[in-house]
Amino acid sequence: MAGYLRDKAVVITGAGGGIGRACALACAAEGAKVVVADIGVGLAGEDPTSEVAEAVVKEIEDAGGEAVAVAEDVSTMAGGERIVHTAVERWGRIDGVVAVAGILRERMLFNMAEDEWDAVIATHLKGHFTVFRHAAAVMRKQESGSLIGFTSGAFAGSVAQANYSAAKGGIVSLVRSAAVGLHRYGVRANAVAPVARTRMSANVPMELAEMGEPEDVAPLVVYLLSDAAKDVTGQVYTAVGGRIAVWNQPVEVREMRIDGRWTPEQIAARFDEVGQERMGLIDRLEQIRKAATSGDKPNA
Ligand SMILES: NC(=O)c1ccc[n+]([C@@H]2O[C@H](COP(=O)([O-])OP(=O)(O)OC[C@H]3O[C@@H](n4cnc5c(N)ncnc54)[C@H](O)[C@@H]3O)[C@@H](O)[C@H]2O)c1
Repeated sequence: MAGYLRDKAVVITGAGGGIGRACALACAAEGAKVVVADIGVGLAGEDPTSEVAEAVVKEIEDAGGEAVAVAEDVSTMAGGERIVHTAVERWGRIDGVVAVAGILRERMLFNMAEDEWDAVIATHLKGHFTVFRHAAAVMRKQESGSLIGFTSGAFAGSVAQANYSAAKGGIVSLVRSAAVGLHRYGVRANAVAPVARTRMSANVPMELAEMGEPEDVAPLVVYLLSDAAKDVTGQVYTAVGGRIAVWNQPVEVREMRIDGRWTPEQIAARFDEVGQERMGLIDRLEQIRKAATSGDKPNA
């Protein structure tokens, strides 16, 4: 067993399957003690079972590692508290939280029902808050810790997943806020935007998507949890196959000024001075639509 995370206590939500499971196995293989937190639901959040978390714990134990299963719902404060406190009660500390749990309820905005919005926001965005909140309180006292959120390239916009995109954008802002707010206590926060072959990505057309495996995402998570990343905070990283990329920090790019208050007419007359930033996604969708009508395959 390698020792990149030797003796660290790490909580991973959504660790019963997909990318979370790959992260849990990799962290345990690097010497971390792992809370495998998962309620074992279907893709849309239905039919919970504790079996998936227990199965991953067994895999870790069979490989000589240490782990404990917690079948708690990350979208509740009580669930988040019990997940975090399982690590603290067992191992006396919490060095890392990796918030991977997620569900999908795809729908065009004009057809989306309130429960489709609420369930996705609750699982992803609140599901980060519940574990980050309780872990941050412990990490602040410890004066160390690494929080890792799971976002998606979809945070930049999504055609049929406005709920998911909004949650993933919220996670980026939550991670940045945690990085800023906890920096003075020695606690770090970063986000990973993965692309990997799981049940969640099964409906993405393969010819359009850059694709990798869950095991390709895990090494970046291990690195961000480790002391080697002690100066890395407030970042968003894409991880897909053999590619890791860093996202920019949001900044204003152009401005225009006037003495006093603008009128709408003055804005209209000078609007080109600020103009618009191109939305690549709209260009890309146009490209795909044109390719579909002409029968050509668009460039991936
Ligand atoms: N697979 C991809 O290509 C991809 C792309 C972008 C982002 N992501 C993100 O990565 C993360 C992992 O995705 P995945 O593909 O491994 O998904 P997955 O569906 O394989 O696994 C998600 C896990 O979360 C668990 N879960 C769901 N709701 C929960 C809750 N309320 N409490 C506790 N556990 C719960 C599920 O039981 C499941 O085991 C998600 O946040 C997803 O949005 C994945």
